[in-house]
Amino acid sequence: MMTNQYLIAVLPGEGIGIEVVQATLTILHQVAVKHDFQLQVDYGEIGQTAFDQYGSYFPEITAQICSKADGILFGAVSTGGLLELRKKFDFFVNLRPVKTFPSLINNSSLKKNYLSGVDILFVRELVSGIYFGASGRGEDEQGHYGYHTMQYHDWQIKRIAQVALDGALKRRGLLTVAHKENALPHLPWTKLVLEVAQAYPDVTVEPMLVDNLAMQLVINPQHFDVILAGNLFGDILSDLGGALVGSIGLLGSASLNEVGFGLYEPIHGTAPDIAGKNQANPLGTLASAMMMLEQWGEGDAVKSLQQAWDNILAQGYRTHDLYFQNQETLVTTQELVELFLNNLR
Ligand code: IPM
Ligand code: MN
Repeated sequence: MMTNQYLIAVLPGEGIGIEVVQATLTILHQVAVKHDFQLQVDYGEIGQTAFDQYGSYFPEITAQICSKADGILFGAVSTGGLLELRKKFDFFVNLRPVKTFPSLINNSSLKKNYLSGVDILFVRELVSGIYFGASGRGEDEQGHYGYHTMQYHDWQIKRIAQVALDGALKRRGLLTVAHKENALPHLPWTKLVLEVAQAYPDVTVEPMLVDNLAMQLVINPQHFDVILAGNLFGDILSDLGGALVGSIGLLGSASLNEVGFGLYEPIHGTAPDIAGKNQANPLGTLASAMMMLEQWGEGDAVKSLQQAWDNILAQGYRTHDLYFQNQETLVTTQELVELFLNNLR
């Protein structure tokens, strides 16, 4: 029998990126044995370490490593590289699922009864908007100034709208669209999404001003199903997701292009304060890797990992970011990996 083989481009980056990626790969190798597929890895440099070595935050050699792979597993960077990587492969779809876990419900600062059953999929546009519009610094009679431009082609809004509508159709059928049309009328997200939504009679489209949406996410998170947002608004709103689940260290993401090739990264940063201390939570990276396996059609492996994840958290094991009550057991990054390996054997 042929076993499936996959090549992962591994870009650990900096800070805790290195530890959480290593931890995740160890777990992935075990689940590959259990479910009879093969993993190969190819390491690339990105961010500061790439700059030091190649004079570029996202060198051509790294781009080549990525283009040969079946998926890219990414850690974190502090400056440079990531936006270039997203743009290079046109990863315009950024999926950020936010689901509260029963055993971690006390970790959020919000009240329990507002959190149970929260299950939101953020769909963030990732290769346009203010991150990529015309920008610069200049000088006029009033002095120095800077600018970044929020620009979207209508087709860019429509193509991400279609992904979000497909997502809503597979879920509970509600699509909330973040916009700011009272101040930014030339970016008519509502109108454009509604045009695409004509082909989706079973999806309810709910446009919402992004400021109000931020408030509603805190006061009524159970309301939401799929939330569609542009690049900047999606960045800001998805961190609120971290507050809902209790730690941003738990959240993963998948960034996909038109052909389904993807970049998988936790939504947290490099956390220099705890880097190298064996304290980082690898679950956000593992969650991202699980999205990669799902994308490859290795759904059974995802189920095994989810089972292990649920067991370990239910048994009270907590990394530093999640530990706050003494009835729980504080574990290091390495110890958490060992728990996964035991669960998967
Ligand atoms: C994220 C990060 C990045 C972003 C930064 C590092 C540029 O915050 O992935 O959410 O804003 O996209
Ligand atoms: Mn962010």
